Amino acid sequence: ARRIWLTRHGESIYNQKALIGGDSSLSPNGAAYAEVLPEVILSRLPKSADGTPVPVSVWTSTLQRTIQTAAALPFAKLRWKALDEIDAGICDGMTYAQIAEKHPAEYEARKKDKLRYRYPRGESYLDMIARLEPVISEMEREGESIVIVGHQAVLRVIFGYLMAQHQAVLRVIFGYLMAQPQAAIPSIHIPLHTVIELTPRPDGTMGVEYIPVP
Ligand code: F6P
Repeated sequence: ARRIWLTRHGESIYNQKALIGGDSSLSPNGAAYAEVLPEVILSRLPKSADGTPVPVSVWTSTLQRTIQTAAALPFAKLRWKALDEIDAGICDGMTYAQIAEKHPAEYEARKKDKLRYRYPRGESYLDMIARLEPVISEMEREGESIVIVGHQAVLRVIFGYLMAQHQAVLRVIFGYLMAQPQAAIPSIHIPLHTVIELTPRPDGTMGVEYIPVP
């Protein structure tokens, strides 16, 4: 069966300093994650009927932290600009505390409506949903197993989309409750140093397993 593994890049220098955006490299912790990632994926690879491992491709963004995280994975790689992290515009390179201090109105506006809020000269989650559409359709066309090494906001969108899709039946039943499933996307928990393993099942549901990597 096909698998989709989602992982954020390993901890970056910016993550250590609590800065958003940028294009920093992995911290030593992040580099250690990149080193063990191949073992984690290889141990999870489903075997095909004749016992050979199934083909896998690895998708990253064009940012150093995802490229470095994927470097040791022994599979074909594809870089997508569309997988780059949300563009924080004028707030790129700041901490949330600095944003609250220097741009209090922006900080409040984002808190009020994180889905629709667009950073000045940057993006919103709704923008991300539009930008990730081609990646998601390619992911669905692709029959191979895929490792997506992404970023927090990007993976919230992809994971949220896949969950909503595979819960279509539930949506019909509880439609009024989930009238706005997109609103939940910006707060989905996507921890660092964790592989999320997704297994699409024949009945249309999706198996989800969080694999923390020590
Ligand atoms: O902090 C890491 C990060 O990937 C930032 O680069 C990005 O701006 C942020 O997470 C997205 O998360 P949130 O939408 O919660 O601010």
